[in-house]
Amino acid sequence: MSEMHEANRAGWDAVSPHWQARVEARGTWRRCHREPALVLAPAEIAYLRDVTGRDACVLGSGDNLVVFALAGMGARVTSVDISQAQLDTAARRARDLGLEIRFLRADVTDLAALPDANFDLVYTGGHVAVWVSGLRRSYAEAGRILRPGGLFLVNEYHPFRRVWHTNWEREPKHLALEFGYFDRGPHRYDRSEEVPGATPGTYPSFEYHWTVADFVAAMLASGCELLALDEFGAGREGWDAAPLEGLPLCLLLVGRKRRAPEPCYNGRGDTDDDDR
Ligand SMILES: C[S@@+](CC[C@H](N)C(=O)[O-])C[C@H]1O[C@@H](n2cnc3c(N)ncnc32)[C@H](O)[C@@H]1O
Repeated sequence: MSEMHEANRAGWDAVSPHWQARVEARGTWRRCHREPALVLAPAEIAYLRDVTGRDACVLGSGDNLVVFALAGMGARVTSVDISQAQLDTAARRARDLGLEIRFLRADVTDLAALPDANFDLVYTGGHVAVWVSGLRRSYAEAGRILRPGGLFLVNEYHPFRRVWHTNWEREPKHLALEFGYFDRGPHRYDRSEEVPGATPGTYPSFEYHWTVADFVAAMLASGCELLALDEFGAGREGWDAAPLEGLPLCLLLVGRKRRAPEPCYNGRGDTDDDDR
């Protein structure tokens, strides 16, 4: 595991109790296995209608609300997260809900514990890529564990939202660029203030701002064809530091694992296969 991922893991383990207390207060986790629309957008559900009896893997499962929703829809779900603290809470909740879920602690850039072609669906999103230093490596792993014809669904916080800064107190409506769109980072933060009693600097975290093109390129390089690309939502997230209403909230990519290597048009009047 890279040093930055290890730091992010330690940060997530440390903030997890506080974070999960808020999840507990919202209470959605108790309902989403019966009401998947609480946590899955219509554009996602359109691709998830026949998950019953299918093998699904959620990468960077966090609060596990999508995990519970997919399990409630009848999928056999594996929940993967780098943080054992996050997984332990989710496992307790799954027991309370009577859901059978496999929990696996792993870095999304190294899923060696999972065999090739093992899943019909891989799902990731909701602020996972921002923690990942190697988006292509991560999506290549997703593609590897998918069965041919399987779906790879990514629903991430839209990259256009990551660049803004606002002087909230003095100019609550004024947006200014804090980061260039192409400044992928790593951007270093300190999560210590989210951990009661922690000394400042104890929990550095490293975030990555991937562009729309990065997401598309990583999906295509993962062995999947792109079935759909969509943007939706325009409201403000509770934690958005800036007034971002009107900007796209979600970036959705739906890929399908290619069934067999296909001859690839390369613009030269022949195909890549001809080169072999
Ligand atoms: C903001 S949460 C969001 C996850 C999920 N979409 C949700 O709604 O809860 C991010 C999660 O990604 C996990 N994570 C961060 N880096 C990771 C990595 N390299 N591999 C696997 N999980 C990772 C964190 O532990 C955390 O649980």
